[in-house]
Amino acid sequence: MLIKNVHVNNQAALTDVLITDGKFAQIGPDLTAPAGEEVIDGQGKLLLPPFVDSHVHLDSTLTAGEPEWNETGTLFDGIRIWSERKQDLTKEDVKRRAKQTILNMVGHGIQFVRSHVDVTDPHLIATQALLELREELKDVVELQLVAFPQEGILSFPHGKELMEQAVKEGVDVVGGIPHFEFSTEYGWQSVHFLMALADKYDRLVDVHCDEIDDPASRNLEVLATEALEREMGSRVTASHTTAMGSYNDAYTYKLFRLLKMSGINFVANPLVNVHLGGRFDTYPKRRGVTRIKELTAAGINVSFGEDDVKDPWNPLGDGNMLDAVTMGVYIAHLMGYGQLQDSYKFVTTNAARTLHVTDHYGIEVGKPGNCILLNEKDFYNALNRHVEVLYNIRGGKVLAKTTPAETTVFAD
Ligand code: FE2
Repeated sequence: MLIKNVHVNNQAALTDVLITDGKFAQIGPDLTAPAGEEVIDGQGKLLLPPFVDSHVHLDSTLTAGEPEWNETGTLFDGIRIWSERKQDLTKEDVKRRAKQTILNMVGHGIQFVRSHVDVTDPHLIATQALLELREELKDVVELQLVAFPQEGILSFPHGKELMEQAVKEGVDVVGGIPHFEFSTEYGWQSVHFLMALADKYDRLVDVHCDEIDDPASRNLEVLATEALEREMGSRVTASHTTAMGSYNDAYTYKLFRLLKMSGINFVANPLVNVHLGGRFDTYPKRRGVTRIKELTAAGINVSFGEDDVKDPWNPLGDGNMLDAVTMGVYIAHLMGYGQLQDSYKFVTTNAARTLHVTDHYGIEVGKPGNCILLNEKDFYNALNRHVEVLYNIRGGKVLAKTTPAETTVFAD
């Protein structure tokens, strides 16, 4: 496949991109296609590596309103409602809903997904369903699964055994939820446990860490210390860390030294964080979001996830990462022109780093020919107009194609 006339990675210059045998073969001006090769006229539009959703929950997707709507909008009511809904889970139910959401994501240019899957279920039904789907859809999407103990590791019956069982069955990443454990001590113990588990089975780590508007929730320092001492930093991710939005600046200053030394990654979920955060405040009302701007300025890797797509924690969601970026730049005060132009990185290159897939991600000669063509010349305009992904290309083949809607205004 030859893609003509595109701005690669938001660069000003126009170039051509040739993909042969499923890999990027040449990137440069005035390339010619070998005989019979498919040619796409890029028309001066933006070519990026595929979007990555670095944090979503596919087991609960499309269950909003079942058995009831989350009318308070708190994290805790979401957990309670999901706890009821998951009594009715079957493999077919999970696979049908997750597949529908994944295919919708693919239509929006996503090719890499990290999904948490709730393992506080004695039968691990959702885990087995998503492991099967990971295999069945491997030509469409690279799906990473996180063993996520929604109701705790030490605070749920046989929590440790369920975590280890999920890892043995094949999940890629070890998760946690220390702020939800019964006590601070259980929270710390859960972090020590999950890091040892990941180390033992050579897995990545992604912890729901301090997702609460409580400045006393400080499991992040425990996770970062473990990552530093085990030399696992680049393989470890702290998701949410919304308590950091409530920490005092003196503590945060000290904390940042450790975060930088540890080299861990961060995932913010701007849509769901701003929706669930601040729910116990009257006024002033906190944003409930981690320090995206300051982490980024410190050279720490931050990516964005959609977190929830129509489930007990988020009644909305359409699998479109532009939604997460739009919300993220607004609530993080990243609205400078350069910051807006660069904000695609939160859902592309930064997110690939979080997923630890940079060895086969990016528009570079020799890497798999995966890319997306957005219907604008640069990311500032793409974000502003919330444009379509015209082509989602995987291994040099069109995986999804979108025809833009056309509006005609009848006015002088
Ligand atoms: Fe989450």
